[in-house]
Amino acid sequence: MTNKLLFIANWKMFGDLKSLKSIKSVTNLSNKNKYKNIKIIYCPPYTLLNNFVIKTRNSNIDVGAQNCHHEINTGPYTGSISSTMIKKLGAKYVIIGHSENRFDGETNNNINKKIHSAISSNLNVIFCIGENLFQKRNKITNNVLKKQIYSGLKKIKKIDKIIFAYEPVWSIGTGKVLTNKELIKQIIIIKKIIKNKFKNQKIKIIYGGSVNNQNIDILKQIKEINGFLIGGASQNSKKFIDIIKKTIN
Ligand code: PGA
Repeated sequence: MTNKLLFIANWKMFGDLKSLKSIKSVTNLSNKNKYKNIKIIYCPPYTLLNNFVIKTRNSNIDVGAQNCHHEINTGPYTGSISSTMIKKLGAKYVIIGHSENRFDGETNNNINKKIHSAISSNLNVIFCIGENLFQKRNKITNNVLKKQIYSGLKKIKKIDKIIFAYEPVWSIGTGKVLTNKELIKQIIIIKKIIKNKFKNQKIKIIYGGSVNNQNIDILKQIKEINGFLIGGASQNSKKFIDIIKKTIN
């Protein structure tokens, strides 16, 4: 997996064939020398995965899916897509454990099975963790994160294909972000939890939750993270480019 600074675009349930055109400016940017040290990863809805793989072929951009089924190959699972299917399409990444899916009933156990499946298919996993507002208010954030990490990664031995995405649920789509001081403190705690389970292994961790072209000037100062998972602001190429440029310049 890459060691570059990550800019992962999570398009959620947005986007159609028309919106594909708008990524041209991002593919152009990715090919410039100046941006050689970053990695842009687009995670569009399933319906556009193939189009994105084709469209980004001559660029430095990689593509990922937003979820997968736990069954690795094929099976009678209406509406689902397996990690092998995603891999065969040419995608290299998959988001697993996003809070919007956890909210819909995805459990730590489901997530664990999906992560096993993704790794067996040789996909890199963007593993989302984060506390909700209730948990934050009740000061159980660290326990929640620990449970998500330990259960989600049960029987996983190596984390070289895992990117931890810390996304406080209350921060997603709300414009609310922790201060850098609070965020650094939380990232250090998460790294400690991971280190306890995966001794001496390299940890890759990114931040997600209302990252935009305004707060990036502040967020980019955090050296403890390896990049960003960006939802709303990544669906607009101008804003997405702005975020990347402001981080690099
Ligand atoms: P947001 O979403 O940037 O719109 O807050 C982030 C995410 O859900 O991954």
